[in-house]
Amino acid sequence: MNAEKYYEENFETRAIHCGQDASQWNCRAVVPPVVLATTYQQTGPDVDSAYVYSRSGNPTRHSLEKCIASLEDAKYALTYASGLSTQMSITYLLSAGDHIVAGDELYGGTNRFFRTCASKFGLEIEYADFRQVDQVIDTIKSNTKLVWFETPTNPLLKVSDIRAVCDAVKQKNPKIIIVVDNTFMSPYFQKPLNLGADISMNSITKYMNGHSDVIMGCISTNDDELFKQLKYYQNAVGAVPSPFDCFLVNRGLKTLAVRMERHYKNALAIAKFLETHKKVKKVIYPALESHPDYEIARKQSNGFSGMMGMHICGDIENAKEFLSHLKVFTLAESLGAVESLIEIPSLMTHASIPKETREALGICDTFIRISVGIENVDDLIHDLDQALNKSEIVIPEGA
Ligand SMILES: Cc1ncc(COP(=O)(O)O)c(C=O)c1O
Repeated sequence: MNAEKYYEENFETRAIHCGQDASQWNCRAVVPPVVLATTYQQTGPDVDSAYVYSRSGNPTRHSLEKCIASLEDAKYALTYASGLSTQMSITYLLSAGDHIVAGDELYGGTNRFFRTCASKFGLEIEYADFRQVDQVIDTIKSNTKLVWFETPTNPLLKVSDIRAVCDAVKQKNPKIIIVVDNTFMSPYFQKPLNLGADISMNSITKYMNGHSDVIMGCISTNDDELFKQLKYYQNAVGAVPSPFDCFLVNRGLKTLAVRMERHYKNALAIAKFLETHKKVKKVIYPALESHPDYEIARKQSNGFSGMMGMHICGDIENAKEFLSHLKVFTLAESLGAVESLIEIPSLMTHASIPKETREALGICDTFIRISVGIENVDDLIHDLDQALNKSEIVIPEGA
């Protein structure tokens, strides 16, 4: 296998070629074949073999993992059956009595896993606002083994300084494992490993696959020892993706760069339009100068995805009515795919977070999360405009 030769190339080239060399297959297939076999003929009971059993290794999956590693500027990548099973597998690096410091705002399912699953096995979890490096450091204890945060956060799009957090955490205790959930940016726009993280984690379900037809997760790392352990747990825990899903993600990655550029362009235009609409109280998009973390977002990322949020005027009923008038945007959970999706986090993606916690964070009922797709931007703007105009939202005086 010859994927290493592509490490010198640019992102777009690597996304198309890395791990995909035709010469690695007897049939010289230009895209990796879907190897559905669960087991492989051995040349002898005690002879080493590249593949033994598909939970421990599969050629289609291997091609994908090589490609992902190269896109994250990493030595290694591993894939899993979902973003959440990736989180579960990483948690196997810890033992009962260990302490985790996690971001106070995370995808609802990530928060639920730490709160209701990891905690059952004697892991202690505390939360911090990762925009406040001092708060993160103050939350670290002598038994802290893992630090886990998202940036931008889901759903409020708060951006923390990855380099500053990593430097401070490593200074406090170099053994702490730092995981950045990079799902909202994808490796095209942000590379946490280059900013000091030990593990970059993605829900591949979102931008990396990009077509709303695969559930999958991955990790990337440059750390030999971490990789060894995670590879062991990938097989020992067994939450691996199917070869067919690996094939689909491989295909999705080939267009990641062009998709991300279009998500960014569309989202910026929509954010600027919504900022001018009288029925919209506030728009949240890290590429807007009005975003409080705009400077740090610009510093550590090459651009922004299609994820944005808005607080609309009125109440929850107005929010629901607005959604009911949309024709192009689909009311649905998930994000990061070619089609535009829209939802109310407090009722949908983040409903599993206790109400008090949600409200303290600012995830209120009139906050709407938008995953801007790659459709024609004029159609998207027109759809939002007509739905807002039809809604019986009373425009506040002076707006
Ligand atoms: C930021 C983030 N991380 C992790 C996940 C979990 O990924 P999956 O749904 O693939 O298990 C999600 C899902 O929405 C997410 O938004």
